[in-house]
Amino acid sequence: MKSWKLHISPAREFSYHASRVGGDAALSRNDDIMSRPHVEFVQAQSLPWRPATFAHLGADVEVKVLSRDAETGATTAILRIPTGWRQAGAFALSADEEFFVLDGALELDGRRYGLHCYGYLPAGYERGAASSATGADILTFFSAEPSLCVRVRSASADVIPFLDAFEMPWHTDKMDPAYGESGLCWKILRRDETARDVTMLVASRPHFHPPDWRGPQERHDCVEEMFLLSGDYIGDRGLMEAGAYFWRPPGLDHGPYGSRGGNLGLFRTLGADLANNWTDDRREIDRDAARHEPIIADMATRASMRSWKAPPRY
Ligand SMILES: [Fe+2]
Repeated sequence: MKSWKLHISPAREFSYHASRVGGDAALSRNDDIMSRPHVEFVQAQSLPWRPATFAHLGADVEVKVLSRDAETGATTAILRIPTGWRQAGAFALSADEEFFVLDGALELDGRRYGLHCYGYLPAGYERGAASSATGADILTFFSAEPSLCVRVRSASADVIPFLDAFEMPWHTDKMDPAYGESGLCWKILRRDETARDVTMLVASRPHFHPPDWRGPQERHDCVEEMFLLSGDYIGDRGLMEAGAYFWRPPGLDHGPYGSRGGNLGLFRTLGADLANNWTDDRREIDRDAARHEPIIADMATRASMRSWKAPPRY
């Protein structure tokens, strides 16, 4: 089995091994992260909008829950902020909040977060006033149930107040050569050197696919989560189109992958170093396949899913 591992500590360098990575790839924290049910994959379009029930948001904010840990309340969701929305500041949440603007724009703490702007507000970080003149759809990740809490001064040290992904360069630094040689590139939005979490944008070219449409599967020691911002992925669970989402627990073989028209996805890896362990056997994918064979272990997600078909393009 061929393996590759992303080293996120500046003291350690990129490496590429011909044998399986072990040992320090062991799960390093938060067994609760690992307990969130497998969702792979759901099209966000097939899930309903519901009034938000988070303590800091009014019921005029709607939410699509993509996945949730029933024990901790950790949630990945799209928040729909209505036009003219306003929120007073000077409060903190008990959960880390990571967010990425999918549509519209949000103002927070005097900054304007437009399309594909990003922020990471750790638990206890005191936030300022927020508003949206236009309304916004915001991909949001809470690390636990977000309740109101007292401000924690040290939270400011970890904050990433603002990134505009449009202004960041694409690159392949430290990328698995198996991906880099396939024409993939990335932008790293966040690395947590303690928890080993990484948040990144990954783009692939149109017509990306393994030779002869057959390739090895990959397996990680970390959770892998993805929201497809644009384009498509062809994979072992079918054709993912913009709006596709998965939460994949560690240790599951998946892939190979290709793309018809290229794609842009927001990925998070959590709980362990990102390592690609490649299987020796090769699986086939079909560029003409339009099938969807999801694994939805989250009962709430499964119960709320409705059938969805992409509208005709022409
Ligand atoms: Fe993967």
